[in-house]
Amino acid sequence: MTVRPVLVALCRAADPPPADDWLAPEESERLACFRFERRRAEWRLGRWTAKVALREAIVAAGGEPPSPSRIAVRTADDGAPEPFVGQRPFGWAISLSHRGGWALCAVAAPGTRIGCDLELVEPRTEGFVGDYFTEAERMFVATAPDRDLAANLVWSAKESALKALRTGLRVDTRSVDVDVAPDTGTVDWSPFEVRRSGPALSGWWRRRGSLVLTVLCAPAAPSPRLFD
Ligand SMILES: CC(C)(COP(=O)(O)OP(=O)(O)OC[C@H]1O[C@@H](n2cnc3c(N)ncnc32)[C@H](O)[C@@H]1OP(=O)(O)O)[C@@H](O)C(=O)NCCC(=O)NCCS
Repeated sequence: MTVRPVLVALCRAADPPPADDWLAPEESERLACFRFERRRAEWRLGRWTAKVALREAIVAAGGEPPSPSRIAVRTADDGAPEPFVGQRPFGWAISLSHRGGWALCAVAAPGTRIGCDLELVEPRTEGFVGDYFTEAERMFVATAPDRDLAANLVWSAKESALKALRTGLRVDTRSVDVDVAPDTGTVDWSPFEVRRSGPALSGWWRRRGSLVLTVLCAPAAPSPRLFD
């Protein structure tokens, strides 16, 4: 069986059209409920990015994409995003992240567990690394040639794993242990692994300007295809 690569869309704050007519009616209702402009903007950017990624996935599968307003990205009880077309579950798995005016959405075939995360490469305190990272991760950060990249990469990989497992930060971040392959120095994707009490999970990461992106899926898939 051919394993399809995960499709990943990266969008910036200026990308969504100013009018809201690309939102599904239920999304427009939800958007109206946000009290804080920052959350409203990131949620809206995330929905736009999800629709870009879903469109690419449908086209790659040889389908005819529906108009964006027919796609609704709902929120499950645990907080995870779930795409619907019309009133029907779309079936494919998605994951979302937003940070600093950017949003990332990964789309994977039905039955896949998917998690993605986006972080700015920015300083992280010793306290942050000491509180949230395992001993092996702390050692990786301490010996890395670029400490900011290493710390944000590990954090992003953890968040991707906890999204794929759908627990989010309800569990101890040290319950997953990120193992990153030495930086190959390329601009493309590099692999990482996440060890935990169950089977290890495989993921991919890459740097993109001031950002670090991680994508993790189970079963494992080839390196993602990025649209930006
Ligand atoms: C999932 C989580 C780790 C992401 O945190 P973050 O780094 O601040 O935010 P990101 O932008 O990278 O990701 C946010 C997206 O993760 C997704 N998400 C939220 N909970 C998720 C879960 N349990 N599983 C998978 N994905 C989840 C959502 O799509 C969310 O974006 P949206 O709300 O705009 O749709 C964090 O939100 C979390 O732990 N949530 C669970 C705990 C919780 O619900 N706390 C109460 C919040 S009021």
